[in-house]
Amino acid sequence: MATTFIIFFTFLCFFQKSLSAKQPHILFIVADDLGWNDVGFRNPDMITPNIDKLANEGVIFDSAYVLPVCSPSRSAFMSGIYPFKTGLQHYVIGAYQNVCLPLNLTILPQQMKKSGYATHMIGKWHLGFCNWNCTPTYRGFDSYLGYYNAAEDYYKHNVAGFYDLHDNETTAWNFNGKYSTYFFTERAQEIITNHNAEQPLFLYLPFQNVHEPIEVPEKYANMYPHVMNRGRKYFSGMVTILDEAIGNITQTLKDKGMYEDTLILFTADNGAELLYYGNNWPLRGGKHSLWEGGTRGTSFMSGAGLQKKGITYSGLIHAVDWMPTLIAAAGGEQVPGIDGINQWDSIRLNEPSKRTEFIYNLDDFYIPTQGHAAMRDGDWKLFLGYPGLMDGWYKPMNDTEDTPLYNLIYSEGDYPVQLFNIADDPNEYHEISLQYPHIVANITAKINQYRQWLVPAKYPPSDPKAKQVAEKNGGAWYPGFC
Ligand SMILES: *[C@@H]1O[C@H](CO)[C@@H](O)[C@H](O)[C@H]1NC(C)=O
Ligand SMILES: *[C@@H]1O[C@H](CO)[C@@H](O)[C@H](O)[C@H]1NC(C)=O
Ligand SMILES: *[C@@H]1O[C@H](CO)[C@@H](O)[C@H](O)[C@H]1NC(C)=O
Ligand SMILES: *[C@@H]1O[C@H](CO)[C@@H](O)[C@H](O)[C@H]1NC(C)=O
Ligand SMILES: *[C@@H]1O[C@H](CO)[C@@H](O)[C@H](O)[C@H]1NC(C)=O
Repeated sequence: MATTFIIFFTFLCFFQKSLSAKQPHILFIVADDLGWNDVGFRNPDMITPNIDKLANEGVIFDSAYVLPVCSPSRSAFMSGIYPFKTGLQHYVIGAYQNVCLPLNLTILPQQMKKSGYATHMIGKWHLGFCNWNCTPTYRGFDSYLGYYNAAEDYYKHNVAGFYDLHDNETTAWNFNGKYSTYFFTERAQEIITNHNAEQPLFLYLPFQNVHEPIEVPEKYANMYPHVMNRGRKYFSGMVTILDEAIGNITQTLKDKGMYEDTLILFTADNGAELLYYGNNWPLRGGKHSLWEGGTRGTSFMSGAGLQKKGITYSGLIHAVDWMPTLIAAAGGEQVPGIDGINQWDSIRLNEPSKRTEFIYNLDDFYIPTQGHAAMRDGDWKLFLGYPGLMDGWYKPMNDTEDTPLYNLIYSEGDYPVQLFNIADDPNEYHEISLQYPHIVANITAKINQYRQWLVPAKYPPSDPKAKQVAEKNGGAWYPGFC
């Protein structure tokens, strides 16, 4: 009996070891400017069957936070470090700015490569390209198809006067005229199809959708006859083509027999841009602001390794946590000294989050001068200064005329300190700083502690050399100006 037990036990241990030793394929999908209320699993007016299925069969994050705009969030995803420590806390990296994510950081794809992964990236970088060393294939990705900047035309792939699409280190003129989602999807499918499934695959897929410009093939917009507002209708179509892309890519994983071994992380980079028809209802505010509508991201995980599925996970997670969490899922070695917390066990076992506080952002650069800071401490959220534009609560647009959005904008005269209890008041209706002065003092002291690591925002004026280099490269953005 004892012997049988020991043999059984040994077998079990061996079995578990071999299970945990199997490194999952990892698909890290980022949706650009997708709002809290822009997915079918929250809003039945949205057509996103593939996203809904993955989310409902996985773990939907209720409190996964991102930065209020693009470059800061992506720098957090890649480095696990708060942007206010790397100088990327202010707005986004402009095409003409000679700035990039600091080169001395070890970033996620490098660590994945070290753990034996094939690493590929398709889509938006937006972490600087002024030097080749700043660009994806010099920072851990085996291959890259995508663009360096933001807000390019979905067909012409140009922005700020120049073409912006690159295949590894070559300007990819051949995709001019094609809607990006189609060929990004095809490339992802090619990579999966040609991949040797014995090697773990890390595929980083930061899609162009659903950032402005509002462009999508007509047929996707026409799937929304019940939406009267033209902008919202086309925006909704942009969400649906993204969903179709994800459906196609997961189908290819299934065809290749890799799906069961794949872990998918999906996240928005910030809240919806309300001026371009995104929606965060019932949350307050939107992209650019530190309100929940700007920072509480639509996010879920699905697939391999998750033990508890079909759940909503309410524990606090911050954008900086994804790097160590994915490294843990990959069985890799953690990078020391980062802000991110490895949440892999918490998520896969549905245990409490290891995070009790985080900085929404610290940006002293902001004009007009109030600065912009917010911190979460348990259920409390404290703002110091300007929370950022779009200050109100907005339902999805459905009038033929656009709804004016500039109501309730912060003015200099507003009380510069605002406190909310997010557990009681997730939509930030009740400002309670005067009732809880000791909490205000306490969190202010903590924010000041964090300020010791604040580095000045790297936000230089346009560098004329950027344009010269692009012109020399036949009219496409190109590294070589820093
Ligand atoms: C990277 O360089 C910056 C600026 O020199 C320095 O403050 C920071 O500590 C360095 N970070 C790492 C991880 O080496
Ligand atoms: C990009 O690099 C990868 C990996 O080296 C290679 O397989 C692929 O063919 C390259 N693509 C182009 C267009 O050069
Ligand atoms: C938009 O308004 C139309 C006409 O009033 C209505 O039939 C439709 O249900 C509304 N759609 C949404 C998504 O609210
Ligand atoms: C998804 O695949 C279908 C079938 O091949 C194709 O018609 C459609 O264009 C694809 N959509 C995207 C976004 O790649
Ligand atoms: C903040 O509150 C915590 C818990 O109540 C307490 O331990 C800490 O000393 C306070 N910190 C400050 C700076 O008041």
